[in-house]
Amino acid sequence: MKKKVIVTGGTGYIGSHTAVELISAGYEVILIDNLSNSEASIADRIGEITGITPILEVFDLCDAERLESFLRKNSDIEAIVHFAAFKAVSESVSKPLKYYRNNLLSLMNLLEAMTVHNIPSLVFSSSCTVYGQPGILPVTEETPVQPALSPYGNTKQIGEEIIRDTVTANNRLKAVSLRYFNPIGAHPSSRIGELPRGVPENLVPFITQTAIGLRETLLVYGNDYNTPDGSCIRDYLHVVDLAKAHVEAVNRLASGKNKTNYEIFNLGTGNGTSVLEAIESFERISGKKLNYKIAGRRPGDIEKIWADPSLANQELGWKTVSSLDEAMRSAWKWEINIRTKTD
Ligand code: WQD
Repeated sequence: MKKKVIVTGGTGYIGSHTAVELISAGYEVILIDNLSNSEASIADRIGEITGITPILEVFDLCDAERLESFLRKNSDIEAIVHFAAFKAVSESVSKPLKYYRNNLLSLMNLLEAMTVHNIPSLVFSSSCTVYGQPGILPVTEETPVQPALSPYGNTKQIGEEIIRDTVTANNRLKAVSLRYFNPIGAHPSSRIGELPRGVPENLVPFITQTAIGLRETLLVYGNDYNTPDGSCIRDYLHVVDLAKAHVEAVNRLASGKNKTNYEIFNLGTGNGTSVLEAIESFERISGKKLNYKIAGRRPGDIEKIWADPSLANQELGWKTVSSLDEAMRSAWKWEINIRTKTD
């Protein structure tokens, strides 16, 4: 009998890649998504990759009744991997209540439902954004969490605290928060990948959309930072590597290997890459010159951050295996695929 795992936000970028890896690892996966930022057809694409098309339940996790009726029909759930949230940093600044309501109410409904339906495990999609601009690099899980730089980042911080307090109050629950650094790239099949709606906020989709002619010019937001080439530094990891970490987290909780009922892991490569180095990587793998120019700094950007992933390496038995070039190559292949194929 396969263990059943719910993936919320499962038709999204990281959710869909995680669903592929969970299915490949032998779990039965059910996707829950309100399709506010993704498409139902992604479930079929997950099926094309794995040979098993996961069930997709389309509803909003802010609707507690709808969640309850779903769970009444779906018992014996081993774990919930929770991605469903709004994640556009700049939109969260202009519409904070939309972010607080959606990201926190959905999480609280899930936690409530877990206690009622005896669902033991939660893997939570968190973010390195909780660290703000760290004073010391690389960042470990002990690095102090800083006051959030955006309502989006604050929903991750508050979300972690809600989970911590809930598992403390209810020892039948256990949880892992995974703090992602910067996920990039796409599944090697090019059947799933990042599908930003409108103008991309994130660097790599903007690079590939510029290279394919969708965007005129990439603006490099600042080259006057205190970094070797003046541009900001981030820790970019392949989304497939990131997805595999979620499988290890589910395995850890399912097998009772967790050391406490609430654990936190940084998920990154451990290497810092500047914006200009990311552009060089793209030009190397594509053979194309990228049209970019230096612009002013983007408000809210931190200067530099990269992970110390040693806790995840040792406790989850997980580490990234893909290089920056491999991740960038997969992003470019995906961009070409979505712009040239209509299916
Ligand atoms: C990376 C670097 C930009 C676009 C955000 C969220 C974080 C997480 C990942 C969800 C920065 C520069 C970007 C462009 C540029 N999301 N840049 N020109 O801001 O590190 O993290 O996405 O969890 O929470 O904050 O990622 O890709 O937006 O930017 O120069 O057109 O690229 O200034 O230095 P970021 P990003």
